Formats: sequence, structure tokens, C-alpha cells
Amino acid sequence: MKMWAGRFRQPLNPEFERWQRSFPFDRRLIEEELAASRAHARALASAGVLSQAEMDSIFSGLDEIRQQATNPESLRDEEAEDVHHFVEKRLAALIGEAGHKLHSGRSRNEQIAADLRLYVRRSIDNLQRGLGELLEALIARAEKSGVAAMPSYTHLQPAEPVLVAHWLLAYAEMFFRDSGRLADCRKRLNRCPLGSGAVAGTTLPLDRAAMAADLGFDQPTANSLDATSDRDFAIEFVQALSLLAVHLSRFAEEMILYSTREFGFVRLPEAYSTGSSAMPQKQNPDAMELIRGKAARVIGDATSLATAVKGLPLAYNKDLQETQEPVFSAAETMQAVVSIAAGFVSAVEFDYDRMHAAANSGFMNAMAAAHYLVARGVPFRRAHEQIGKAVQWCLEKRCELEDMPLDELRRFAPEADQDFYSHLTLDAVLSCHNVEGGTAPACVRQALAEAGERLAALRGEMHAHA
Ligand code: ARG
Repeated sequence: MKMWAGRFRQPLNPEFERWQRSFPFDRRLIEEELAASRAHARALASAGVLSQAEMDSIFSGLDEIRQQATNPESLRDEEAEDVHHFVEKRLAALIGEAGHKLHSGRSRNEQIAADLRLYVRRSIDNLQRGLGELLEALIARAEKSGVAAMPSYTHLQPAEPVLVAHWLLAYAEMFFRDSGRLADCRKRLNRCPLGSGAVAGTTLPLDRAAMAADLGFDQPTANSLDATSDRDFAIEFVQALSLLAVHLSRFAEEMILYSTREFGFVRLPEAYSTGSSAMPQKQNPDAMELIRGKAARVIGDATSLATAVKGLPLAYNKDLQETQEPVFSAAETMQAVVSIAAGFVSAVEFDYDRMHAAANSGFMNAMAAAHYLVARGVPFRRAHEQIGKAVQWCLEKRCELEDMPLDELRRFAPEADQDFYSHLTLDAVLSCHNVEGGTAPACVRQALAEAGERLAALRGEMHAHA
């Protein structure tokens, strides 16, 4: 039975009928639909619309559907328009007329708004768990790397040495912010649209606060037009995911680059690589390439969502059905990406010797050399010029600054002394970045401890939502 055939004289064009169905994808929302239906049934009973017996029978019918739904075969229904229609049909088939009573005082417009919120909330909780694992893996790797050093780059040109831990913690910072954005989105979306009706609010005396509490929402939504038609929670969620995807894509790009023979800082784990069907020698960084590639999809999903909503008059429009798939796609894609990334981070190996050699050459101590002169009263601009000339001399002689004889150096920088050389060692250069957020080993140790504490706090919050 159709949900709305009463005022129609002609049957639907079969091609249109098939094409407009959302059940092929919104069947994912079955758990949410059943939970929201239970909350609605309870409110109907409290309002005296359902007898106790009717409510009990609705509950047992919904439970039965839930049981059946564990078998994907049971979700085959070529007629159901959407997940709401599916549950309605099934319920009527299972318990008869009382099943149709469940739809009193509600509309699919509020149902999809509630289901999608519940889906996003559940996805956020899953993603937070995944991010917790990724952060844990990153922090563990950073701890394990001790005081190993590597080059840092700007413009992808060697810049200054940093601790490997400092580099890894840079990504941890990004993922902490991503987690914060998701937590923030969760707070805002956690309002219950049930009771909004089709557009203007339900006409039955339903206890909206009770329905909200039933579903773990903080409170009911404040405006029925807004609640049934806005999808900003979905847009916000997918935009937060697109930023997470961007961060993971940058990480993947560095792994790809650093695993090349030319850099050789990273040894790809075989478990996350594949070979070439043509070139026997190859070990390709597929996991990282796919993570970089998946970012395109998620950014696309975020764009689709904002574009779908931008021109819609209030309130519900069927266009909103198109907001479901980008949400599913982004949520499912990123849950997998985060999990693969966490596994990769635990398995990847670093070639600390090559990193050390690279950090210890290529004039990455030139800025420290200039600051040595600054400490002797030379204005930085002049010190910069003097060390620049010294670098030029070394380039011609094919040596490093620390190999330059003092008398040669003094031709450019008369203020330099024998202790110049002790300021140029890798340890000295690292240690002089001794400021909160800098790469000096003491600062990085502090940052690591703080990252551990923040991860524990995040886990505590996750626990509160479990
Ligand atoms: N499947 C629909 C959607 O996802 C449910 C809401 C339909 N509402 C309506 N008035 N046709 O948007």
C-alpha cells in the first residue's frame, strides 16, 4: 500500500517510481528509524492516542523487524519507497491495523530529519574512536623515535632540522582539531526534531522533551520549519570530514614522498603496499595513494551537500533526499580511511640513519649560524648576509659550514670565534629552538606528555557518549 495514494487517479510512471525511491540507500537508517518509531509510539501512548495493548504490539513488531534486519535479505523490498515506508509496511504486515496507527501525528519530514541526525551522531562517535586510535599510534611512534632528527622543509627545500617526534606531533595537532570539530558538530546537532510534523508542528499533544530524552538528544529542536528542512548538521559534519581528509591526504603525500629512493626516510610496510603486475621490483604506496585519492570524494561530498541546500525555499523539499548519499559516502569513506591510516602508522618504519644524515647536512644549520652572530651583537640582516656569503663559499668548495676554516669565515663574519663550530652541531641546532611549540628535545618531551593527556581526555569524552 502506498502512503499517499488517496488523492491520485493515475498510477505512477514505473520508471519514475523506481527512480525516486530512496530505500536502496536509506535502508542504512533502519536502526535509527526503529528507535525513533519507538520514541514516537511511547509519546502517542502517553497522549492517549494508542492503548497500552497497541503500544505493546507496536513495540513487539518493531523488535521483530529489528531482528529480521540483521539478515540483509529481509531488507529486500522492491516496493518500499524509503525506510519509513518499509517499516510502516512491515509493521502492518506483522501486527495489522495498529501498525498504521503509529503514523499518527508525525511526518516523514521529521522522521528523516531525526534519523539522519542519529546516523551522523553515531558516525561521529565511531570516527572519534578511530581518531583516538590514530592519535594513539602517532603518539606512540613519536615517543619511540626519541631524539632522532630529520630535515624539515619549506618550499620542499631543506630548512632546519627537527625531531621526528616533532614532525609526527604536527599531524597529531591536526587530528586533535579534527576531533574537536566533530565534537562541536555533535553538540549542535543533538536536538530532536520529533514533534515537528510535516512543517508546522504536530497537532497531537506529544511530549517532545520525553521523545528527545528517549533518543539521547539534549532537547527538542526549537522551530519546526527549520528542524524539518535544514541539513546544516550534515553539511558541518561532512565539511569537518573533508578537513580531516585533507590532513590525512597531506600525511599520505609525505609518506609517498619520503618512501621514494630519493628520500629514503620511510620504509613502507608490505602489509599496506602492493606490487606492479608489470615491473617486478616495485613496491607501491597504494594505501597512501588511496587515502590521498579518497580526499577528493569527501571534498566532493561536502560540495554536493552545500550546493543541494543553498537554493531551497523553506521548508522540506524532495531535493533533501539527495543529502543522504553524500553523508553516507563521506562517513563510511572516512571511517575506513582513519582505520587504515592508524594501522599504517603503527606498521611503517623509519630509516633514522638516512634522516639523521639528511638533517646533518645541506646547510640546515645556517639560520643557527646567523643567530650565533646575532648573539654577538651583529644585526640579523647583516648576519644573514655574512652567513649567506659563507654558504656560497662552501657551495663552491663543496663542503658544509662547519668545515669552513675560521680565517676564511672571518673574511665574511669578523665577529665569529672558535666557539662558532660548537653552535653548528645537530644537537646544538635542535636545542636552540627552545620555545613552547619548538623542536628542542625538552619542548618536544613536554608536547608529548600534553598530547598523551589530551588523548586521555578525548577518550573520557568518548566514554561519556558510549
Ligand atoms: N525519503 C524522503 C527523504 O529522504 C523522506 C521524506 C519524504 N517526505 C515527503 N514529503 N515526500 O527526504
